[in-house]
Amino acid sequence: MPGIVVVGAQFGDEGKGKIVDFLAEKVDMVVRYNGGSNAGHTVKVENKVFKFHLIPSGAVRGKKVVCSGGMVINPQELIEEIRFLERRGIEPDLVVSLRAHVTLPYHPVFDRASEKRKGEEKIGTTGKGIGPTYSDKMKRVEAIRIEDLVSNKFKEKISKVLEAKKKWLIEYGAIKDKNEIEKYKNVILNEYTNYGEKLKKYVGDDSLIINEALDQGKKVLFEGAQGTLLDVDHGTYPYVTSSNAVAGGACTGAGVGPNKIKRIIGVAKAYTTRVGRGPFPTELKEETGDLIREKGGEYGTTTGRPRRCGWLDILILNYAKRVNGLTELALTKLDVLSGITPLKICVAYNLNGKKLKNFPVSTELVEKCKPKYVELEGWSDLGREEWREIAKKGYDALPQEAKNYVEEIERRVNLPIKIISVGPGREETIEIKKELKSKREGI
Ligand code: GDP
Ligand code: IMO
Ligand code: MG
Repeated sequence: MPGIVVVGAQFGDEGKGKIVDFLAEKVDMVVRYNGGSNAGHTVKVENKVFKFHLIPSGAVRGKKVVCSGGMVINPQELIEEIRFLERRGIEPDLVVSLRAHVTLPYHPVFDRASEKRKGEEKIGTTGKGIGPTYSDKMKRVEAIRIEDLVSNKFKEKISKVLEAKKKWLIEYGAIKDKNEIEKYKNVILNEYTNYGEKLKKYVGDDSLIINEALDQGKKVLFEGAQGTLLDVDHGTYPYVTSSNAVAGGACTGAGVGPNKIKRIIGVAKAYTTRVGRGPFPTELKEETGDLIREKGGEYGTTTGRPRRCGWLDILILNYAKRVNGLTELALTKLDVLSGITPLKICVAYNLNGKKLKNFPVSTELVEKCKPKYVELEGWSDLGREEWREIAKKGYDALPQEAKNYVEEIERRVNLPIKIISVGPGREETIEIKKELKSKREGI
């Protein structure tokens, strides 16, 4: 019956896809609990690379995968993703929640237009229509769910929605004038009725299916999208996404009780990155940041945008521990830091002369925080083969300085690091069965 949550502990792109794929070997079902095609989760197996936007990363292992009701789904992109897997010989055993909301063609148009209007104040969204789709859901009018898309009421529903949105469709440039509305409606109707037909065989009651599996003693892994600091309630508002990325989102999104969750794994990069705008106290705007970006291939999986890079931030990890109830950490991309010395870890903020140990609520205050660092000695540059050898041998084979770095994080967050990733591939992973020697006392 144990439920396991994999949640991003920073600003997204922590390597959740890789960790989910690694853990999926031993689970029966993988459930994506939030977000939409703004996510980009990468899984690398031998020389094959899979970039998932909607389908849970457990699909590569042939596990049952569920797109939960907490998600917003662009049917066109979902069908493309299904076809992509089929071309690679994987028939996904997929369930799409009847409760999930549908992203329609006007949602990305509204998303981009609203960003353009904001100018300098923009959020830096992925432009995938995520905010507008969740807004429609919350307004409880003008929204389409998967259950509508696959039913014969779709025509009636979408006609009403488009009628209500007419003014906005014109204002935001989806159509030129009101004479185009009929044509626009017919295009959507034809296209989306067809998508509905194609998706019919996958739809179901996610909550029922997941809870039955848990009751039968099956292991269910809940895959979060984005990260803690991008959560709509707990992130650096308004520079956030529009869903609950935190671990609690697994319960609300998938319709499972909190008592079903036994393990909550926070995935953290060995440094920090962020795409889009918003505060980032440890950001490196000089050559070390560029070096990390190049070594780590830090370009967005969904949009290709360069990711902002900076040092690891312990305040963020402790914040993620608190708001997610983390039981452990998975540390990724440790290999990327090789050859960089000294390495810095932010252990406090200085805000107008005051020392802060907790991540502030106010985004304006976070903008003003100056990081206080401890320095650690780095280790020499290692090649891909050397990292693979280390991964085979296990934790003890890591360079001593790398072990010091890992154990410093353990001590300061007071959580066990149970997985260390040293490369994008499935095999480039170290699972730590015994707890490390580091005395975790929450400095
Ligand atoms: P996600 O959104 O959290 O699933 O992360 P992304 O897939 O967007 O970004 C993580 C990137 O880092 C992907 O390109 C992964 O293939 C890659 N990656 C994951 N873990 C490691 C690692 O330990 N080392 C290196 N070098 N790359 C990794
Ligand atoms: P994964 O699941 C990193 C960011 C965007 C923007 C903000 C709001 O791959 O970790 P949105 O399009 O959601 O309205 O954009 O959130 N963002 C992500 N950043 N990884 C993601 O997903 C992201 N999904 C959204 O860049 O700053
Ligand atoms: Mg990503």
